[in-house]
Amino acid sequence: MIQISASLLAADYACLGEEMRRAEKAGVDSFHFDMMDGHYVPNLAFTPDHLKALRPYSKLPFHVHLELDNPDDVLSKFISLQADIAVVQWNTLTDPAQTFSRIRAQNMKIGLGLNPDDSFKDTVQFFPEIDLLLLLGVNPGFGGQTMQPNMIERIACIRHLSNNSEHHIAIAVDGGVKPENITQLVEAGTDVLIMGTALFQSSDMTETIKLIRESVALSQRR
Ligand code: DX5
Ligand code: ZN
Repeated sequence: MIQISASLLAADYACLGEEMRRAEKAGVDSFHFDMMDGHYVPNLAFTPDHLKALRPYSKLPFHVHLELDNPDDVLSKFISLQADIAVVQWNTLTDPAQTFSRIRAQNMKIGLGLNPDDSFKDTVQFFPEIDLLLLLGVNPGFGGQTMQPNMIERIACIRHLSNNSEHHIAIAVDGGVKPENITQLVEAGTDVLIMGTALFQSSDMTETIKLIRESVALSQRR
């Protein structure tokens, strides 16, 4: 089943807990927290303390997306925060296997994030170790950008590689996902749609999610 993950970067920061309740009621499957350091990306965003404060607002899974230079230094801060999955960016890893085992040691699933211009050739050897491959559709740092044009090809290529191996990898797309491109994304092989602006800035989130589910169901029937 296709999952919709709500990226809180686009939510109203004055009432994040309420925003989470609104999104859960509208039908999202998980929450996506972008952690940004102002160095790896030119923006600052959530910290582990935000997760801690927001955990009581929903029982849905929390996904953390570490858009920062030193994932190994901050991973230990997630102990007991009940994050379901930690996504680290490929070009921040000095020893990928070691970082992955640190994530596993904290009972989190492993996500690997690729920027739009990262080649996935070198990452294929790690597919058996990871649970989720997150493909950024935009340069990381900001919500509300337009998805880059080569994404459908990239997704289809990774789906093909994964189907030909024994290990099924879940593919998430993050950045520029909106109702208008969902059919193509799903048909190319996306499993998780990470959406910020298109959910939180829509006039009716429940209706938006309903429309997304309908177009996903239609494209899966084809
Ligand atoms: C970008 C972030 C995304 C962002 C997506 O650096 O990783 O999670 O919130 O936002 P939208 O859906 O607005 O493109
Ligand atoms: Zn993200």
